[in-house]
This record gives sequence, C-alpha cells and structure tokens, in this order.
Amino acid sequence: MLFLTEKLLWGRKVLKNLYNGYLNILEWIDERVGITDITRSQLTEYKVPANLNYWHSLGGLAIFIFVLQVATGIFLLMHYVPEADKAFESVKKLTEEVPYGWLYRRIHAIGASGMVFIVILHMISVLFYGSYKRPRELNWVSGFILLNLVLMVSLTGYLLPWSQLSYWATTIATNVPGAIPYIGDEIVTFIRGSQDVGQVTLNRFFALHVTAIPLILGLFIAVHIFLLRRTGISEPKWKENKKGDK
Ligand code: HEM
Repeated sequence: MLFLTEKLLWGRKVLKNLYNGYLNILEWIDERVGITDITRSQLTEYKVPANLNYWHSLGGLAIFIFVLQVATGIFLLMHYVPEADKAFESVKKLTEEVPYGWLYRRIHAIGASGMVFIVILHMISVLFYGSYKRPRELNWVSGFILLNLVLMVSLTGYLLPWSQLSYWATTIATNVPGAIPYIGDEIVTFIRGSQDVGQVTLNRFFALHVTAIPLILGLFIAVHIFLLRRTGISEPKWKENKKGDK
C-alpha cells in the first residue's frame, strides 16, 4: 500500500513538472510572438453586435470546410495519377486499398457539396439581412468572386476521377457556353483545350483544381476577412436588443 502511494505521488510530481515545462515553453514563445495579445484582440475580446445568431456562423463554417478540403486534398494527391488511362484506376485503388483512402475521398466529396451549399446559404443570409449595403459593398463583391471560385474548384474537381459520370457531366457543363451566338464554340474549345473533353482537359482541370484556384480562393478569403475586420459585422436592423445588451 505504502509502495502504491509513493508511486502515485511520484507520478503526480512528474506530471506537474511536465505541465510547468509546457507552460514555460508557451511563455517563451508568447514573449517573442505575442500569441496572448493576438488571441485577445482577434478572438476572445473582439467586439461583435450583441444579437448575432446562427446565420452569422455560416462564413466561419465555409472557412472550416475550405481548410478541410485542402487537408484531405493533399492526401488524395499522394495517390492520384492525372492521366486519362490511369486516373480512374488510381482513384479505385485509393478507395479500395489505401488505408482510410475511402474516408479522405468521402470527406473531400461531401465537403465539396457542403461548401457550395454553405456559401450559397451564407450569401442568401447576408442578402436578407441587408449586410451588403454601405459600407460593406466590397464584402459582397469579394464574396461574389469567392462564390465563382468555389463553383470553379467544384467543376474542375468533378472531372478528376475520370469516371463515366465525371466525363459526361463535364462534357455537358462545358457545352453550356456553346449556346452563346458566334463565339460559343470557340469558348467551349478554349475551356476544354480541344474539341472534346480529353487528356488536355484533364491536364488543365487538374492543374487549376490543385494549384491556381485554391491559392486564389485562399487569397480572396483573406481579402474578405480583412474587409470584414475594417467594417465590423453588421447589426441586424429589425431585431430589438435584449434588455441589458449594448
Ligand atoms: C468561400 C466563401 C466565403 C467565405 C469563406 C466567407 C466568409 C465570411 C465570414 C467568416 C464572414 C463573417 C461572419 C459571417 O457574417 O458569416 C463573412 C461575412 C460576409 N460575407 Fe462572406 N464568405 C464567403 C462567401 C460570400 C459570398 C458568396 C457573399 C456574397 C456574395 C459574401 C458576402 C459577405 C458579406 C456581405 C459579409 C458581411 C456580413 C455582415 O457584416 O453581417 N460572402 N463572410
């Protein structure tokens, strides 16, 4: 019994020392980087209107999904082969043989639909709250650019598994500009890189999907947040503050 008590006391001392060591490391970093100040001014003590509701969490949710897409996308990229005769097989292998490959793929696919859904819902909410009005016009404009980028990253990603579904869905979607008089056919060929959807289309969609569009999306999210921090979140106009709220 005495032996057990001594062991427990010793264990507690080790844990306490480890915890103190951890605090010392944090303090060391904080003194140089100022994490406490940044957390206080940007997160915990950042003032927002009193009567915010769940609609105001949609923008943050969109950022969360974007990060999730980048993380799962990196794992998918480790196994994907962007060649017309190998792409489908590589995705099949990823789903059936790579440990948890099916999970990354599922998260990435559901995340893509989720992001389009959440961004559209976010847009509808800022529209109905009138949050796009002065001085937040540029929030709306940068948001509109973000919506287009989200749609572009979804379209380019849909082709990558090179399945019957992705091939024909891309053929139909890229056919749409063909309805424009005179220049329609040229636009379709410009998007596809050839008359029909083929290896050249896969090359350019792959490049755009994994590099250019996510980078520009990240940049515009930063612009969107910068603008938001300048103007602050808008106050819902028609909702009375609760008693005691400022
Ligand atoms: C990737 C897409 C997007 C992300 C990550 C994003 C992110 C955010 C975040 C975090 C906020 C602050 C919290 C909130 O009110 O939800 C916000 C606010 C806002 N967003 Fe977006 N957004 C996106 C797309 C859009 C779109 C498509 C529009 C409209 C076309 C838009 C217009 C606005 C406006 C006007 C505000 C200010 C709202 C207010 O002050 O109450 N955003 N956005």
